Amino acid sequence: MAIRYCEESRSFQLDTKASSYVIGVVDAEGFVGHAYFGKKLGADDVTYLMRTGENPFTPETNARDRLSFLDSFPMEYPCGGVGDFRESAIVVRSSDGHRGLQLTYDSHQIFKGKKPLEGLPATWGSEEDTETLELVLVDKALSLKAILSYSIFEGIDAVVRSVKLINESQQPVLIDRIMSASMDMDNREYDKILLHGSWARERRIDRTPVNYGIQGMSSIRGEEGHQNHPFMALLDKTATEDAGDVYGINLIYSGNFLTQTDRSQFDSVRLMTGINPEGFCWKLNPGESFQSPEAVLVYSAEGLNGMSHAFHDLYREHLIRGEYRNKKRPILINNWEATYFNFNTEKLLDIARQASQLGIEMLVMDDGWFGNRFDDNRALGDWFVNEEKLQGGLRYLVDEVNKLGMKFGIWLEPEMISPDSDLYRAHPDWAIQIPGRTAGLARNQYVLDMSRTEIQDYIFDLISKVLRSANIEYVKWDMNRPLADIGSYALTAECQGELYHRYVLGVYRLQERLVTEFPHLLLENCSGGGARFDAGMLYYSPQIWCSDDTDAIERLSIQEGTALIYPLSAMGAHVSDCPNHTVGRTTPFETRGYVALAGTFGYELDVTKIPEEDRNMIPQQVAMYHKYNDLVRTGDYYRIASYQQNHMYDCYMVVAKDRSEALVTFIQVMGRANAHSRRILLKGLCPDKTYRIEGEERTYLGSTLMQAGLLVGNLWGDYKGKLIHIVEA
Ligand code: DGJ
Repeated sequence: MAIRYCEESRSFQLDTKASSYVIGVVDAEGFVGHAYFGKKLGADDVTYLMRTGENPFTPETNARDRLSFLDSFPMEYPCGGVGDFRESAIVVRSSDGHRGLQLTYDSHQIFKGKKPLEGLPATWGSEEDTETLELVLVDKALSLKAILSYSIFEGIDAVVRSVKLINESQQPVLIDRIMSASMDMDNREYDKILLHGSWARERRIDRTPVNYGIQGMSSIRGEEGHQNHPFMALLDKTATEDAGDVYGINLIYSGNFLTQTDRSQFDSVRLMTGINPEGFCWKLNPGESFQSPEAVLVYSAEGLNGMSHAFHDLYREHLIRGEYRNKKRPILINNWEATYFNFNTEKLLDIARQASQLGIEMLVMDDGWFGNRFDDNRALGDWFVNEEKLQGGLRYLVDEVNKLGMKFGIWLEPEMISPDSDLYRAHPDWAIQIPGRTAGLARNQYVLDMSRTEIQDYIFDLISKVLRSANIEYVKWDMNRPLADIGSYALTAECQGELYHRYVLGVYRLQERLVTEFPHLLLENCSGGGARFDAGMLYYSPQIWCSDDTDAIERLSIQEGTALIYPLSAMGAHVSDCPNHTVGRTTPFETRGYVALAGTFGYELDVTKIPEEDRNMIPQQVAMYHKYNDLVRTGDYYRIASYQQNHMYDCYMVVAKDRSEALVTFIQVMGRANAHSRRILLKGLCPDKTYRIEGEERTYLGSTLMQAGLLVGNLWGDYKGKLIHIVEA
């Protein structure tokens, strides 16, 4: 890992483990261009790739065709309004209403380590394992300064980027658009991968060609939502899971985003990501600065699996924080699908008593314990224990659960307010609404204006009292509706365009307080399932509830899409009861366990009511989790076969970092008549090492398992699964 500046070629080369990223400065004006991102280079100068030696040349050679230059040069951070007619990374309005900006090179700094991003989640690193380049660009006409920041990490093929805009003028400016990263590349007939979805169908993989014009994804829901994801991969048409060039981009942010490509007349592709400009306008007063969220760029020459490994390693080692980052999580049982709102102390203790005997380690009390929350029509904001349900109070319940040897966790939805709540009756102006317009409800609730610190503090006070009132060791932080009717009673008219982003900053501030004041708490984020499963939230919580769809077969696709970017250690996954509450499907209990094993693992059912043979299987599943979780949490994940694509079966494996052990999960979704065994080619093993399959006598070379493969016999029935544990002999 190294960042080098070459005075002669005026270029910066950022070398990661296996990739290089090259930026060049050209022309007397100092335009900053993107030269290269790909397989690691030697010391050669590659700034010729910016094509300044061919028509239309740079303005100092050919001022007459300045616009042709601006419209074709691979700008590192393209500005709007002055002649680059492709999509801009930044658009600023001056105090006299004009939109025009040209940021050019001023200076730079290279240093060890990395600065935090004020108020925002971001990757972190030490002086030993991280290096940063800060490129300072200026617009002399507006006296604006932009600091483009790039960091790289030891052993990881990722470059993280962000932008800080500083107003050094005497006048305010309005920021209409500020992307976190933009990258111009030659198109090589790329495909793109996006993740789309819906409630209970999150993060489905969609691969299509990169066509001309603008294509991408965005959200205007105040979070990324179930529907869209702040991620895109550009990959060679021939790229597969294991081979070929892949570029991945992901935004560390939990609000409205835009991720897009713009394929130009000259077959260049501009890839960018950042805050969605729709609904955004930020007033930057003299002396103030605006910090963009951070974007992650990954290049892999080893196909999609290589890209996933880079994201997983970066997020596990340089994003997720706290006590549980590298720790096995307690196996929990959550009462949501067991009871919904219909529970009391006795019911919860019944579940806990039974669960503790089976080896389950934590009881999580979900929605419905507070105010007069007997259904989802009321009480959000009234964070006081409902003693009608919790007879004896929260402390009694938690103590009783602790006496069983179990931990206790609680559900909260701090960002919300029900119209039928004491909080709303006292403070109707605390909800996000547009005055004079009846705000739309979703799940019969409004969103609290988390841009206001007095509201953040009020809510924090309430929830911290609850958390201090008993031995609560886990919080599930839910968020069950998108933002709409976007108006704040506290912002001036010209600053209303700041609300979406200020809301996200407010949520981040609250979660930062929570993890700082309760450092031993295990936090799990959630948003109506997986509507806010993003890298921003991972900075605060090491795990996120993946989806409200707990059906093992649906989960194969949801978890596959999620694991394209996020480590298995982050994916909230539970075994639930059947017929499944979302799709009505009945799958074997054993298979539900195998699929949940690829995440944090837990239960979401009434353990006192499930069939006895299922209940009897729980101790084995608990043992299975304890046996494999270290490997699953810390290893390299490889996709082998995708049910989403083949409609028959799914297969993936996790290999220990030292290649001494691996676990293959094979799920035969549809049974087949008169079928031979399937041949599965394993991945990631050491070719020269000798391995043994647990339970079998013979040994195999790693190369045999990867090239000749294994035969997995046809299983009898649908939805059947199998684990194959491979150990070094
Ligand atoms: C949505 C979550 O995803 C569920 O797990 C559950 O907590 C409900 N909200 C409770 O309202």
